[in-house]
Amino acid sequence: MARPKIALIGAGQIGGTLAHLAAIKELGDVVLFDIAEGTPQGKALDIAQSGPSEGFDAVMKGANSYEDIAGADVCIVTAGVPRKPGMSRDDLLGINLKVMKSVGEGIKQHAPNAFVICITNPLDAMVWALREFSGLPHNKVVGMAGVLDSARFRHFLSVEFNVSMRDVTAFVLGGHGDTMVPLARYSTVAGIPLPDLVAMGWTTQERMDGIIQRTRDGGAEIVGLLKTGSAFYAPATSAIEMAEAYLKDQKRLLPCAAYVDGAFGLNGMYVGVPTIIGKDGIERIVDIKLNPDEQAMFDKSVDAVKGLVAACKGIDPSLA
Ligand code: APR
Repeated sequence: MARPKIALIGAGQIGGTLAHLAAIKELGDVVLFDIAEGTPQGKALDIAQSGPSEGFDAVMKGANSYEDIAGADVCIVTAGVPRKPGMSRDDLLGINLKVMKSVGEGIKQHAPNAFVICITNPLDAMVWALREFSGLPHNKVVGMAGVLDSARFRHFLSVEFNVSMRDVTAFVLGGHGDTMVPLARYSTVAGIPLPDLVAMGWTTQERMDGIIQRTRDGGAEIVGLLKTGSAFYAPATSAIEMAEAYLKDQKRLLPCAAYVDGAFGLNGMYVGVPTIIGKDGIERIVDIKLNPDEQAMFDKSVDAVKGLVAACKGIDPSLA
């Protein structure tokens, strides 16, 4: 049976890391697409040459034409401009909206059956626009944010408690921005919820609040340190986890920016919620109960996403 085909739209920092991970994990053959000539070809060749040592057979190809993504099973979109220091995700809106238009049209024409994972920021608005421009079914277009935000939260918690990251689960919902909602009550060390760990004296509420804020600022902290770009290792790993869930029909429960119509009291918008990912893409939205405080934070985040979508409609009237 032929290997699955994975198209990476954008061959920058995240795109290159995605290609390397997809190859090492043998998820399928990879096409790296970019408007920059030479970049996708150079990265594809470089990664292919790691094959003998890594022991993978996946084919790596670089491309500047959308025809090369034809028939892709998965498309992961990082095309666009990343945040620079001092620039908010929202500043990126105008530039990256135009990029989503060309990418959406390319996918519509050449890979209409793909599972599409958007990473480009500002995430919740870009995944919505990409869905609109591509016309693909809502369950096949999803944004990567919650897996990354939760991974950041899990990392900080594992350091705080001095326990393995494998035993820390965490949930971050809402939009991928300053208003994201890390849910302490649904985050655990091997099933023990964070509020219980505070009560057990493993940490203080003050330190928990600090970790929650650091999670919210997780992307900005790395932008501030790198100075010339934004995070790429963990974002790539997070998207590969989602692609693998789809390709292997794993039915993983992962927080993603998914189209929510009915659940959480929302009618038809993209925002970070718990989902099940399997062979049909987003197979289910997991409509967990929020307490009044959590609901208030979630509502605020939903409003922030709605504001971004309204701004997109203002910039491109074809989206209104
Ligand atoms: N079509 C295809 N590729 C494009 C287009 C386009 N219209 N416009 C830009 N690109 C390419 C650039 O040439 C570049 O190679 O997108 C790539 C982006 O790569 P980087 O600048 O290295 O950005 P990266 O760190 O990979 O982040 C990509 O993900 O997390 C988000 O905020 C981040 O929006 C940014 C995206």
